[in-house]
Amino acid sequence: MAQRVSHYEIEERIGSGGFATVYRARDTRKGETVALKMLHPHLAANPALVDRFRREMLVAARLYHDNIVRILDFGEAEGVPFLVMEYLPRSLDKVLRQQGPLPVEEAVDIAIQVLRALDCARERDVIHRDIKPQNVLVAADGTMKVADFGLAKALDISSSLSSQVIGSPHYMSPEQALGRPVDIRTDLYSLGAMLYQMLAGRVPFDADTSFVVVQKLYLLVLSFILCKTMRWISSEEIISYG
Ligand SMILES: Nc1ncnc2c1ncn2[C@@H]1O[C@H](COP(=O)(O)OP(=O)(O)O)[C@@H](O)[C@H]1O
Ligand SMILES: [Mg+2]
Repeated sequence: MAQRVSHYEIEERIGSGGFATVYRARDTRKGETVALKMLHPHLAANPALVDRFRREMLVAARLYHDNIVRILDFGEAEGVPFLVMEYLPRSLDKVLRQQGPLPVEEAVDIAIQVLRALDCARERDVIHRDIKPQNVLVAADGTMKVADFGLAKALDISSSLSSQVIGSPHYMSPEQALGRPVDIRTDLYSLGAMLYQMLAGRVPFDADTSFVVVQKLYLLVLSFILCKTMRWISSEEIISYG
């Protein structure tokens, strides 16, 4: 692996997700530590995807908000698209694994910060599509910052469920899992699942395999629709279900 990407010096491999590998790197021009995210080579080989990536990053880089991880730069190195962000090594996922369920005030405060990020994005017609604790990063002062805006759309996450690109369907809305068109409500669904996890210490729908999680979800939605149609239960009862 090249030790240098553009004017960024790679220092350490942080981790890898479904689409990319993330490195801690040093911006040699500014002397700052950054997070450099490089698309997996097999995705970089798809010209349509690379094109979409470029377009989505142009939009995402314009999202300036306290609760959104700043995109500092993006480009291509030897045909492989990369993204440079502010470096934030702590994620909500790690916080939840270390601390388990959070106090109600803290969980609600985090949810509100994520909502602020979503609201800012909504003003620019940007839907996140991959809201999950791994994409909520914690700044040094404790502020929550949502990462990876635009990435899911660039990589067409909704149609890739079966191709194993996504690690976890736990936060995915039914319409997204079905590959249907999505709007802001898909992010609200994911935030709801995340809030549930922050409070209960576990995700609302869990199973050993992704397939079973999605099946459980369908079953629940179907039974609710059925109950509503047959007037078996009231909306209040549905809301109080969880
Ligand atoms: N801006 C960042 N600063 C520091 N670490 C990051 C940053 N963005 C992502 N990471 C870390 O890199 C790893 C891979 O991230 P990513 O490719 O986005 O996959 P996922 O979001 O599915 O975990 C994760 O461990 C994540 O915490
Ligand atoms: Mg991520």
